[in-house]
Parts: sequence; C-alpha cells; structure tokens
Amino acid sequence: MSAFSFSKKPVKVPLVKTKNRSIQTPVPSPGTEGILENLSNYESRSMQGTVPLVWEKAQGFNVFDHAGNQWIDFTSAIFIANIGHSNPRFIKAIREVLDNNLVHHFTYPSQIKARYYEKLVRFTDGEFDKAFLLSGGTEATEAALKLMRMNGQRTRKKRLGIISMEGSFHGRTLGAQLLGGIKPQKEWIGFEDQGVFHIRCPYPWVLDKGTSPEEFLENELKKLEDEGICLGTDICGAIFETFQGWASFFYPKSFMKAMEAFCRKNKILLTIDEVQSGFARTGVKFGYQHYDIHPDLICCGKGMGSGVALSGVLGKREIMDIPDVGMMSSTNSANPIACAGGMATLEEIVENNLVEEARRKGKVFHEGLNSLKEKYPDRIPYVFGEGMIASVLFKNPKTGEADSLFSSRVSETCMQKGLLVVHTGRESVKMGPPLTISDDALLEGLDVLDEAIRENI
Ligand SMILES: Cc1ncc(COP(=O)(O)O)c(C=O)c1O
Repeated sequence: MSAFSFSKKPVKVPLVKTKNRSIQTPVPSPGTEGILENLSNYESRSMQGTVPLVWEKAQGFNVFDHAGNQWIDFTSAIFIANIGHSNPRFIKAIREVLDNNLVHHFTYPSQIKARYYEKLVRFTDGEFDKAFLLSGGTEATEAALKLMRMNGQRTRKKRLGIISMEGSFHGRTLGAQLLGGIKPQKEWIGFEDQGVFHIRCPYPWVLDKGTSPEEFLENELKKLEDEGICLGTDICGAIFETFQGWASFFYPKSFMKAMEAFCRKNKILLTIDEVQSGFARTGVKFGYQHYDIHPDLICCGKGMGSGVALSGVLGKREIMDIPDVGMMSSTNSANPIACAGGMATLEEIVENNLVEEARRKGKVFHEGLNSLKEKYPDRIPYVFGEGMIASVLFKNPKTGEADSLFSSRVSETCMQKGLLVVHTGRESVKMGPPLTISDDALLEGLDVLDEAIRENI
C-alpha cells in the first residue's frame, strides 16, 4: 500500500445529483469518523486501507452511506457482486434456506448441496467433472496446491515443484503466499518453498524487444533448467492467475498456449486461479477461455457466491478424487446458505445473459478508458483488462515512473464525486462494476473518472 492516507474528516465538496449519484453532504459524511475510529480500535489494522466510505446499503450498481449519499460502484465490493448488489433472486434464495431451518450440515448430504454441485459442474460445459467447495479464495488455491502435489506423488515425479509467476497473488494463507510472487507479502513466513519456482511476468515492459512471448517463456524455463531443475521430473504443477491482479494484465495468448503445451508435454497440471476472473466477469464464463486453453484445475471465489462465503476448486474426476475420504474437507464446505447464493448466482448469469452483457458493456468500458489514455498520454501509459475488469496505470509525466500517489488521489476524488473505484495502493486504479450496471451509469462513471484525472493533473 502507498503512504497515501485518505481524509477521515468530512471535506466540503461540490454537491452532485444525477439519476445514478447523489452527494449531498461533505465526504466522508459526518458520523463516518466515529465508526472508523471504532473499527480502528477493534479491527486489525491490516483491513483498513480502503477509502473511508461506510457502507449502509448496496443495491444493484449503487452503494449508499448512512447520510443517503449514493455512489456508482465500479468495485463490485472487490469483484464479488457480478450479479449486482442485493440481487433479489439471491436474497430470496438465502431467505428460503433460512425459512427451511437448515443453516448448516457439515459434510452430511443435503438436497441443496447436491443440486448446487451438479449445477456448478454443468456450468463449465463439460470442461470439469467435479468440484470441492470451500469458503475463501485462498483456501481454493491451497486446495489446488495440494491436488497438484498429490498428483505429482501419484505420477511418481522426483520432486513436487510448482511453477508460478512473479507478482502473482493467490491469497494470504501460508501455501497461497508461498505460491504468490510478491516477496514483501511473504517475508513473515521466514522461508521460501524450495519447490516453488517463479518465472517473470510477460508485461509489455518486460518482453525484450523482438522476443516473442513463446521465446520469453522458453527463456524463463531455460533459466530453471540452468538452476538444475529437470522440468520433466521435478515439476508437478503450474499456477497462474487468469490476469495479474493489480493491473488486470492478461498475458499474451501465445504465452499461455505455449505454457499449456509445455505442461501437457511434461505431465504437469495447469491450474488457473479464477478467483477474480470467473463467473462472467471478463465476458466469458471463466477468464481462461480468452486463451483458448484447457486447464486441469481452476480456483474460484468472489463472484462465485455474490457475497456469501463460497469458493472452490474444479477439475477432472481423476484429479479431484485423488485425496481419500476425509483427506480434503472443510467445516464450512457446501454450507446451504453458500450453495443457495451460488445457485442464484449461476441462474442470474445464465438467465440474464451476463456473459454476453459483460462482453458488450466491456467493449464500451474499454473504449472509454482507452480514450482517456489518448487524452492523457503523459499520465496514462497503459489500460489493461477484458470485459468488465480494467486497470488504468498512471505515471509521473516528468520522470515517467509509476505514480501510486496520483492513483490514490484519483481514487479519493472519484469518491468525493460519487464514484467508487478500487484503491490498489499501486500506480493502478482498478475497476470492475457489477455486470448488471446500466449503460448510462457506466458512461457516467467514466466521465467522473475523467474529471478526477483532470482535476488532479
Ligand atoms: C486471484 C486471487 N486469488 C486468490 C485470492 C484470495 O481470495 P480470498 O481473499 O477470498 O481468500 C484473491 C483475492 O483477492 C485473488 O484475487
């Protein structure tokens, strides 16, 4: 996170009143400070980096505070609310579970659990046969790690090495952080997993001039071989985010195709971490489809449950069934409330054509963002993303260096104007509106972003 700290005291800002936004008080609204203080007294500090907006209600693509101010939400509460906040079908489904007096059943069977598993697997159009449900994204990547290594043991690999990527994020628990490629985040562990090998991310500024993405991958793998790693016998898995999170950067397609071919050739399981990108977010059901590849495992979370604690791993039967009975379980796995939320999510995606909607609106979204890039070439070197996920990267026009302070200022100004964006703490402003956002609110949000950039230049 950058050193920037948002004003917790109410700041007088111009009033805003449109169909989609309303700012009628200083921002943050009076009363916010007390709630923040209360939280900072009792909640661990690590959870307190966001813009100081106390959420009172969230509905559709809007967030409201206790003063009735109304924001256009370009965050989906960190890419959860793909089907819109407080989606009526979702609320109804959960209410039905509560009215049925079945709030939890551990690993005992239930009808709702059986129905959801089937519906989830069918949603993948035959790509995967089975799933294992959990509560958080980090547990899903941990489970994938376990499956990759157990499969490595089954296939008698000499070592249980995993290839991952520098800069990647797979969650905050031990295994997930060891897989992840952000060094400062895992210093607390005190050691590196000697069996996790990070290759560089093929960002445009990293790909050497004239080097194709396939050659880049070949060179990265060659470096591993030079370190004495036998790619065929020492590696059992590879895990990549669909796109690199902080910048929503999708790798070149040919890079991922080459990675898939390498994995197939060497009997290495390929896992794609879809925690952010799944469930229609990027204009396809799952983000890996942009690469025209077939991963062995995917990790899901966030938009999978639309706000209930639901995550999971999906894969082929022979991989998913490797752990013996009891070897892979979780107290909250397939909780009925989570299953109901997940089921309502799938129904909304299918019945409201949210995959197509994300694709159509994503085009408008990215056209708008790219026109900002053209308008502010000294400030915006890159716009990344696909469908309804996007990041605008900012640089300092004088030095050309990444400018995280500017992106923090833009995030704060957006908030003061009634638009909520994701504050990454880096040089990116990240956005992912609910897929149900109206076209006019999407365009209005882009205009607000434009104003916020202009006012901070
Ligand atoms: C790609 C990716 N994987 C894993 C996670 C961890 O998910 P959770 O925070 O639900 O544990 C995240 C969360 O941001 C993520 O973006």
